[in-house]
Amino acid sequence: MATTGELMEAAELGMRVAVRIINSARDAANMGYEKASEVMERRKRIGYISTGSSTFDKMIGGGVETQGLTEVFGEFGSGKSQLAHQLCVNVQLPPEQGGLSGKAVFIDTENTFRPERIAQMAKAVGLDPEKALEGIYVARACTTDHQVLLAEKAVDIAKQGGIKLIVVDSLTSLFRSEYCGRGALAERQQKLSRHLAALHKLAELHDLAVFVTNQVQARPDIFFGDPTRPVGGHIVGHSMTARIYLRKSKANTRIANLVDHPGLPPESATFQINEAGVRD
Ligand code: GTP
Ligand code: MG
Repeated sequence: MATTGELMEAAELGMRVAVRIINSARDAANMGYEKASEVMERRKRIGYISTGSSTFDKMIGGGVETQGLTEVFGEFGSGKSQLAHQLCVNVQLPPEQGGLSGKAVFIDTENTFRPERIAQMAKAVGLDPEKALEGIYVARACTTDHQVLLAEKAVDIAKQGGIKLIVVDSLTSLFRSEYCGRGALAERQQKLSRHLAALHKLAELHDLAVFVTNQVQARPDIFFGDPTRPVGGHIVGHSMTARIYLRKSKANTRIANLVDHPGLPPESATFQINEAGVRD
């Protein structure tokens, strides 16, 4: 997946050696065509993690999918982190209760992970809070370099098996603060793209769900309609299997809009955030 230049720099190699290594890796990885029937076979193994709300699950085709990337974006307080917490609990439930009997990895870039909230949500679905906390690996990312590395390192945990969900909350906040101004945009997008590629690889190779959150930014050029859009541009947008826009409504009520999905129509769902967690 790396370019010759990247490999030369990372491993201090000459061009010819780097090309040879990449070519052998490509042969070994069997990166050619496969039959649609094989793709179909792989897709049959896709698992779904319930959000806690049946209308929300229905909107996204049955829950948050493994083998893909799901993004929720929205303004502060719209429920992104709450959903992330809820999925870390629900993934641990057995399949008949909307889970995958799996564990979760939580990459926290904004210091929003709250074990107390996990315990509260676990109790509400009948899981032992202690056990639920044992089932989540948390890492706090301080810089974009650190965040990219944590996603790459998650491979080591995923290899031990049992990991069915990786959360990145938030995907873009560190990128936004570290790379300011137009001059840094190209570099930012390149790094973000590498980060997303690593997450994709994890999702596909280990049959797990990747769930990322994203903020919205104001669009000064829009006077009619919704003046906000998700951060990260096309690189983020095109990497996602599902994109969901969250909005605040009255009190505990939230509205979710499925904005982009390769196999489902745009749709909306209303859900609630209460003491128990995410509900209809
Ligand atoms: P940012 O990360 O700031 O962009 O926002 P976010 O989208 O991650 O928001 P988050 O998921 O943290 O949602 C916070 C909202 O969830 C709060 O404003 C509350 O309305 C709601 N909430 C969180 N915990 C509870 C709870 O225990 N009970 C109830 N009723 N609501 C809660
Ligand atoms: Mg949050």
